[in-house]
Amino acid sequence: MERKALSAVGANRSWLGQPVLGIETSCDETACAILDDAGKVLAEAVASQITEHAKFGGVVPEIAARAHLTTLPTMVRTVLKQAGLNATGLRAVAATTGPGLIGGLIVGANFAKAMALATGAEFRAINHLEAHALTARLPGITETAPAFPYILLLVSGGHTMLLDVRGVGEYRLVGTTRDDAAGEAFDKVAKILGLPYPGGPALEQLAMVGDAAAVHLPRPMLGRGGCDFSFSGLKTAAAQLVGRMERGALDIRFAADVAASFQAAVLDILGDRLHQAIALTPDATAVVVSGGVAANQAIRSALTAVAVRSGLPLMAPPMRLCTDNAVMVAWAAIERMRAGLPPDTLDSKCLPRWSLV
Ligand code: KG4
Ligand code: ZN
Repeated sequence: MERKALSAVGANRSWLGQPVLGIETSCDETACAILDDAGKVLAEAVASQITEHAKFGGVVPEIAARAHLTTLPTMVRTVLKQAGLNATGLRAVAATTGPGLIGGLIVGANFAKAMALATGAEFRAINHLEAHALTARLPGITETAPAFPYILLLVSGGHTMLLDVRGVGEYRLVGTTRDDAAGEAFDKVAKILGLPYPGGPALEQLAMVGDAAAVHLPRPMLGRGGCDFSFSGLKTAAAQLVGRMERGALDIRFAADVAASFQAAVLDILGDRLHQAIALTPDATAVVVSGGVAANQAIRSALTAVAVRSGLPLMAPPMRLCTDNAVMVAWAAIERMRAGLPPDTLDSKCLPRWSLV
C-alpha cells in the first residue's frame, strides 16, 4: 500500500485518551463512529441508501454521492453529541479514501479534511479493505482478538478476496475474484428470480425451501490450484436455466430450487478456496470472515466447518461490523497510530481503485 511520508496537521499535539472519528462513504452507506483510544465505541450511526437505489436494481454513483453529502453533516453532529464531545476534542478524523465510488469518497474525505483543518486533529486516510481486514481485532467483539497472521475471507457486494493479514499495513493477497464478487452474483441471480434488491438475504430465504439437488449448477474454479474465485459462469448458468424454463410467471418451487442450488454452488466454491488458502498459509492463527455475504447462515456454517477441520477457529465480527460501517474506519486509524504510522496530509488523494497489496 503506497503512502507518503509527511508532516501533517495535528502531528505535534498530545493526544492521550482522545477519541477518533471515523467516516465511511465509499459505497451506499453513510456511516460515522467515534471510538476512544482503547477502541471502545462511544457513538456510531449508519444510514443505508438501499431505498434510493432499489428502483434502479443497483447502486447509482451520482445518487450515492449526493445522498452522502446530504446525510453526513447531520450525522457527524449526532455522533459527537451522543459521545458527549466537541469536534475540538478529537485526536483524529479518519475517512475512507478508497477503494470505492469516487463521488462518495470525495464527500467523506473532504469533510474529514475540513474538520481536521478546523480543529487541529490529525487526518487519517483509510483504505476500506484494510478497515475490513482489521475489524475482527476491535476489543470485545470476539472472545480473543485474532493474532497476526490470520486469513481474512472478505465476501461482499464489491469484493471477494482471501488475504493473509500479517500485520497492520502488511497484507498478502492469497486469492481474488476474476470477475464478479460473490455478493454481486447473489444480487444478479436474485434479480433473475424476481427478488428485490439487494438480493442476498431474499435469496437465502428462498433457498431454505428449495432442493439444491433438483437442478445442477457449475462450480467454477473448484479444485483448481491457487485460491482465485469466479462467479460469472455460475451466474450465467443460473440465468440460462431460468431463461429456458420461464413461461409467464416463474414457478415458485423451481425458483426455490435454483436459489438453493446457486447458494450450494457458492458455498462449495468459497469452502474449497478457503481450504486452499489455509493450506498455503501454515502459520495462520485463525480465519476471519467479513462482508455482507458472511451474513448467510449456510455459508457461515460451511466455512466454519472448513476452518475447524484445519484446526483453526473461525471468527466473524457481528453483522453490523461485517457490512460497511465507520467503526472499522476509526479502528483502522487507531491500529495505524499504534503501529507508529504517521498521519496523512490534506493533499492526499482519493483512490477509487486503491489496492491493499
Ligand atoms: O458488505 P456489504 O454490506 O456491502 C458491500 O458490498 O460493501 O455487502 C452487501 C452484499 C450484497 O451483495 C448482498 O446481497 C450480500 O452482501 N448479502 C448476502 C446476504 N446478506 C447480504 N448474500 C447472501 N446471503 C445473505 N444473507
Ligand atoms: Zn465494504
